[in-house]
Amino acid sequence: MTEHNLAIVVLAAGRGTRMKSATPKVLHRLGGRTLLGHVLSQAEALGTPHVRVVVRHERDRVVESLADYPGARAVDQDEVPGTGRAAQLGVADLPADFAGDVLVLSGDVPLLEAATFRALLDEHRRREAAATILGAELAQPEGYGRVIRGADGLVERIVEQKDATAEELAVTEINSGVYVFRAAALRQALAEVGTDNAQGEMYLTDVVRILRGAGDVVAAVAAPDALAALGVNDRVQLAEATRILNERVIRRWQLEGVTVEDPRSTWIDDTATLAPDVTLLPNTHILGATTVAGGAIIGPDTSLRDAEVGQGATVRRSDVTLAVIGENATVGPWAYLRAGAELAAGAKAGTFVEIKNSTVGEGSKVPHLSYVGDATIGSGVNLGAGAITANYDDVLKHRTVIGDQVHTGSHTVMIAPVRLGDGAKTGAGAVIRKDVPAGALALSVSPQRNLVGWVEKNRAGTAAADAARRSRASEKATDGQQEQDG
Ligand code: UD1
Ligand code: CA
Repeated sequence: MTEHNLAIVVLAAGRGTRMKSATPKVLHRLGGRTLLGHVLSQAEALGTPHVRVVVRHERDRVVESLADYPGARAVDQDEVPGTGRAAQLGVADLPADFAGDVLVLSGDVPLLEAATFRALLDEHRRREAAATILGAELAQPEGYGRVIRGADGLVERIVEQKDATAEELAVTEINSGVYVFRAAALRQALAEVGTDNAQGEMYLTDVVRILRGAGDVVAAVAAPDALAALGVNDRVQLAEATRILNERVIRRWQLEGVTVEDPRSTWIDDTATLAPDVTLLPNTHILGATTVAGGAIIGPDTSLRDAEVGQGATVRRSDVTLAVIGENATVGPWAYLRAGAELAAGAKAGTFVEIKNSTVGEGSKVPHLSYVGDATIGSGVNLGAGAITANYDDVLKHRTVIGDQVHTGSHTVMIAPVRLGDGAKTGAGAVIRKDVPAGALALSVSPQRNLVGWVEKNRAGTAAADAARRSRASEKATDGQQEQDG
């Protein structure tokens, strides 16, 4: 449903000095999205056509990140600093006749959910307030603005940490940095906000005092989950937010039927999708747009990024990025599947195997110590230990095409472009430079010659020569013994 009477202004123009980072604060990532991305994806769920994001610091990078949220429009903040100025410019960019409610969100408060914004808005409308603050009770309120109430229990103002008296600092009700305002009241009050405070900035929080002075109703609603009000100003808070989000995401999937053996060492991005009866073993990372189908067992020690895993597949101690793993396929231990690797149903990528931009057909196996790049492999194939597709000739990449039911001997090198026909075989150590017809056995290794005594002659005095001499002497003695016995 489209909410025409609601506008959203997201504050994202600050420097984020305390992050000490070349990356703007709101673009730091947790759980698969940026801080700002979390805020915008929840904002999207409210269904308003008016979403403004106020930008200034590293504005081009922040604006570029908005591409994922087509409803959001950037508004530039000028040289006047502070959340009050940011909100003022965001509101000024709304249609001039917009007379609904303005939800102001902070780009650095990533864990609040749409349902909380919705509840805040409902309460604001029910009480016909000019402003409603989303507050939270925090045992450790350091760093946040405090909500100061009068003797009558009504909200009087918000005081910033840096401007607060000792008595005010003892207040544990904090301002989460999220509010709803009646548009007209906000426009009027912001016009009166100055910069006479410890930071010399226009504080959005001053609006509360100004509205109360004009006799307007200002309400405050407590966030249902105080932890979700966490604002990210430094890397300590970023890690804390990451952990809280991860716990939330894991719990969501557990309730959907996913077994997570060790939630503390398992990391699941908010953007991933798991089916019931997936099992995640310890130290596993499910990242990006990964999807995992039912019955799959992932881990331990595995990372999946933007991967697709089919029903009943297993992936042990492996790194998988942008790859597709078919039903009942097995991967690892210690496999590396890169972009464009596709294992069909029942296929195997075994130990110390790297595969990229290649398809491995149904039931085909790449069990040990292989590199497979730019290859198409049919069904029922077995690549012997150490098989390599030499796909790169120093200038261009070429394809290797392997038919159905091909078996290669250990340590076969296939120099692309090359084709191995259905049912073909290769000998151990073969270097395949020419196509192999269907059903042929390809051998490329010259017959073995043993130069007897070479080591003792050419490496006299070495440990190898001594060992060889001893071995030959004992062979002779045994031969002599046998001759006597016979
Ligand atoms: C702000 C609130 C504080 C609240 C806390 C909640 C004010 C004055 N203080 O403090 O009461 O408890 O959030 O997390 O509002 N921003 C701009 N333009 C600016 C400055 C900031 O867009 O000129 C943006 C920032 O990018 C950030 C948000 O506003 O996303 C909050 O700014 P920040 O400097 O982090 O405010 P806090 O000190 O955390
Ligand atoms: Ca902040």
